[in-house]
Amino acid sequence: MAEVVILPGTPDEAKAAAGELAADAIERVVRARPDAVLGLATGSTPLPVWSALASRPLDLSRVRGFALDEYIGLPSGHPESYRAVITREVVDTLGLDPALVHVPGDDGGPIETAGERYEAAIAAAGGVDVQVLGIGRTGHIGFNEPGSSFASRTRVKTLTAATRADNARFFSSPDEVPRHCLTQGLGTILEARALVLLAFGEAKADAVAGAVEGPVSASVPGSAIQLHPEVTVLLDEAAASKLRFADYYRDAWDNRPDWAR
Ligand code: F6R
Repeated sequence: MAEVVILPGTPDEAKAAAGELAADAIERVVRARPDAVLGLATGSTPLPVWSALASRPLDLSRVRGFALDEYIGLPSGHPESYRAVITREVVDTLGLDPALVHVPGDDGGPIETAGERYEAAIAAAGGVDVQVLGIGRTGHIGFNEPGSSFASRTRVKTLTAATRADNARFFSSPDEVPRHCLTQGLGTILEARALVLLAFGEAKADAVAGAVEGPVSASVPGSAIQLHPEVTVLLDEAAASKLRFADYYRDAWDNRPDWAR
């Protein structure tokens, strides 16, 4: 069962509070192991995590990172490639060593075997300690769109029309959003030692309800988190608005035992 935390306050207050809680989880791991391995999501959702972490007196220079996914087909150096986004929003913000941060397909090898090489690199690093996740309206985590196998590994996927429309905000025209991507699989994500999933806003409410409380189903790829023993879900009120057991989650969080604070 996941720990579901519904942050009160305005959307901005809830995002900031969620960012601090996710940063707490990452800080604990990095203090125990300065070369911890982080799983890195892109998109808008994790931004409060990086800003919370950046404001802490924590040496992240030995931390290693693996991005969840990357578009296929953007010109190299495109500002919306996830390599560029990760460099700008994570590596530069947190002072990570760029040589220790990987994005699927960025090793210059053939695309057909990029997934296998990425899996081997994650394994060689000893696996991911904390995987930060957002969730798409389609229920995707990483870019595992509906129908993705729970056993899937890093591979090429085709983005849904809904995901391309959602991500069009980062591009000058919707047609510019690539159709294909490389993404860690659900099986890859489930091997991380801990998952921290964040979601904000009403547009995510159905996906969150499906992921946290719905049937475990490839139709809602985020529901794979129900199979993981160590998951924290950080939500604002709007993203939590369709959860059946919201009152229970609030009560459990407000009354968590002292040792869990
Ligand atoms: C990004 C990723 C996606 C996003 C999701 C939500 O690396 O893997 O699953 O987390 O599409 O995107 P935002 O946060 O922009 O709403």
